[in-house]
Amino acid sequence: MPSTVKGVIARSKGARVELVDVVVPDPGPGEAVVAIQACGVCHTDLHYREGGIDDSYPFLLGHEAAGVVEAVGEGVTEVEPGDFVVLNWRAVCGECRACLKGQPWYCFDTANATQKMTLTDGTELTPALGIGAFVEKTLVAAGQCTKVDEADPAAVGLLGCGVMAGFGAAVNTGAVQRGESVAVFGCGGVGDAAIAGAVVAGATTIIAVDVDPKKLEWAREFGATHTIDSSAEDAVERIREITGGFGADVVVEAIGRPETYEQAFYARDLAGRVVLVGVPTPDTEVTLPLAEIFGRGGALKSSWYGDCLPSRDFPMLVSLYKQGRLDLDRFVSERIGLGDVESAFDKMREGTVLRSVVEL
Ligand code: APR
Ligand code: ZN
Ligand code: ZN
Repeated sequence: MPSTVKGVIARSKGARVELVDVVVPDPGPGEAVVAIQACGVCHTDLHYREGGIDDSYPFLLGHEAAGVVEAVGEGVTEVEPGDFVVLNWRAVCGECRACLKGQPWYCFDTANATQKMTLTDGTELTPALGIGAFVEKTLVAAGQCTKVDEADPAAVGLLGCGVMAGFGAAVNTGAVQRGESVAVFGCGGVGDAAIAGAVVAGATTIIAVDVDPKKLEWAREFGATHTIDSSAEDAVERIREITGGFGADVVVEAIGRPETYEQAFYARDLAGRVVLVGVPTPDTEVTLPLAEIFGRGGALKSSWYGDCLPSRDFPMLVSLYKQGRLDLDRFVSERIGLGDVESAFDKMREGTVLRSVVEL
């Protein structure tokens, strides 16, 4: 029997979110219904609400979630009812060119649930990033569920998006090695996760750059060894100074602006890797001198979803969390209810939280 549950939608461009009844079908072949226990509020949810992603309203918001599998459809072998899972954006196919190249995060043939969740009048909902998790139960493809050890859902749910993106930018895309220096531009949830990743990878110098002193303080708590307020100092010059005149081995840009990407570029050491995880607007352009690339070498890389493989990375990060080596609790600024998503967006805009997390 389909269930009717409470969920948070964005009905039209720019409209405030609404708490409504959502009809969740029984899982079909290859699908699972997951009882959501916690879901972080991410910038992408706000972008959906504001029309920055696409126009397929109404959206069922939320996509950074953990919960318990309630039911599975025909042919599902990945998970079973009772499993504690973290959700990922898209189940990868395992067979396309990207998957076969060992880069499943670029999979061409990702699968989400084929049935639709709806409003009670039958209007189909578009789930944010293929998940839709500000809701008591959600319908996903079974491959979007990664079974992990039981842990606080509010903390480990964050692995489903922001924390994985930042941690993976440093560890997977940037491939930080022990003893290296790392500079991170932008110390929101994504940048701080990159800092935490650099600590786990064994970086010895971790430089946090932001324009907000409070963010720099938080970055230190995640393991930054140096901080730079780039509204007051020249970040590139300071990074060179801190690294003995060279620049950082890995520079992570977690903002998505042309000026900070340029700074990140000049802040790299010989053969340094510059990783772009901050999402640029579609029309953003930067001009980079070819001679500088040629003369210093290195790589300019983008990081898509932290270049993660959920089945490999989510359980590993949960282990690190449970061992006390990755402080996920520090990302959880406040725990809120389904009715508080709009005020969480306000706090996000004001920059007063790293993550608000909806608990159900
Ligand atoms: N120089 C330095 N820091 C800056 C600048 C700047 N010019 N502009 C903004 N910042 C800082 C902000 O003060 C903030 O601390 O960048 C940080 C961005 O953090 P959040 O807004 O909290 O964003 P976050 O959730 O961390 O995501 C960062 O990654 O995945 C992407 O879409 C996401 O593009 C976004 C980026
Ligand atoms: Zn594929
Ligand atoms: Zn997100």
